Amino acid sequence: MLAFPFLLYRMRAVDLIRKKRDSGEHSREEIDFLISGYTRGEIPDYQMAAWLMAAWIRGLNRSELAALTESMLYSGEVVNLSDLPGKKVDKHSTGGVGDKTSLILAPIVAAGGLTVPMISGRGLGHTGGTLDKLESIPGFNTALTLEEFRRVLKECGMALIGQTAEIAPADKKIYALRDATSTVENIGLICASIMSKKLAEGIDALVLDVKTGSGAFMQKEADAVLLAEVMVDTAKRMGKKAVALITDMDQPLGRLAGHSHEVIESIEVLKNRGPKDLRDLSIELSAWMFFLGERTKNLDEGRRLAEMMVSTGQALEKFREGIRLQGGDERVVEDYERLPQARLRAEVLSESQGYVAATNCMEFGIALAMLGGGREKKEDKIDHGVALEFHKRIGDRVEKNEPLVSIFYNSDARLSEARALIANAFSISEKSPAKPSTLVRSVLGA
Ligand code: URA
Repeated sequence: MLAFPFLLYRMRAVDLIRKKRDSGEHSREEIDFLISGYTRGEIPDYQMAAWLMAAWIRGLNRSELAALTESMLYSGEVVNLSDLPGKKVDKHSTGGVGDKTSLILAPIVAAGGLTVPMISGRGLGHTGGTLDKLESIPGFNTALTLEEFRRVLKECGMALIGQTAEIAPADKKIYALRDATSTVENIGLICASIMSKKLAEGIDALVLDVKTGSGAFMQKEADAVLLAEVMVDTAKRMGKKAVALITDMDQPLGRLAGHSHEVIESIEVLKNRGPKDLRDLSIELSAWMFFLGERTKNLDEGRRLAEMMVSTGQALEKFREGIRLQGGDERVVEDYERLPQARLRAEVLSESQGYVAATNCMEFGIALAMLGGGREKKEDKIDHGVALEFHKRIGDRVEKNEPLVSIFYNSDARLSEARALIANAFSISEKSPAKPSTLVRSVLGA
């Protein structure tokens, strides 16, 4: 008889999938086994996809969530930036439609004197990703090595890259798999994905932009608050300062969604123009970064510094420098035609008159993906030139046959489907609706 029969037990992915499917609770060792096995390529995509779906349906409790975050974080290196002067601060959004603030606030905050080491993601579900947007700039390299990442940070104070084989490799693989398997909108999986990247960056402080509303992964505000709480707790447990702003995603942020067009709209804000909602949120998030990074004594000072970086053109110059250092064509800042553009344009007209009462914002993201702006399979290529331009916001008056949205596209294979989705995403009512809720609904962790 064996004295220690458990020593013969060998973990198998198939057993862990069954355990989660049947609502079991994983030990830290089990989660480490899954994450390290998948990162090394020993567990195949189909088993990880099955486990992700089981975890999505059954959920992860707090200790599983902590284990998953740490396991994903330590799947790669934690960057040590202590040789760079000053505080290192970053921001991460949970994602939405037209959410391009990273492109704006990274140069604002770097121009204002802090270091912004930003590891971002690609498009996820119906939302666009910072990496895909940046890659619409000809030559822009989001896959810097760790050495290059450090060099760019040292030189200009900001660098924007994706997860690599060295930094957060588990999230790199799992993120792409979740995008193609409908396993995105889950508090535990989102927290582990975001925090494993952010904690690997070598930051001192983190500002989280947690979206809520019809275009967010957390459509209900209570869920967004819960997600914000677990992420702020995780950051603090790991010794980082963190706040989370719960912000509105009941309608797109800014007027444009689609990769190259979002780059243009970001440059417009950096030129002290651009839509007010996008500008206001970018300034607010930058102010929090300045404050947490101890660059300013309070938020008001942070807001003034952010405004100044924009109005003096220093943030725009920083963006230009960042593009150049990452191999991109900096001339896009002046000449938007150097960015990919779609060849064709169509309008979605209002079928009735009245007021825009609400939008089903997620449908805009799905329509954009359908036109080539997103991936349905991991290996799909993005069309950086397709875009939607929104002409009406919640509360606006609209006449029959007035354009609601312009579609910029290259292939009409799915145009009528996309057009129908967009048209149906608008609720038009006879009465003027109550004003939409404020952009920033609440702040946690301050
Ligand atoms: N952003 C991420 O990086 N991961 C998620 O899961 C959702 C948003």
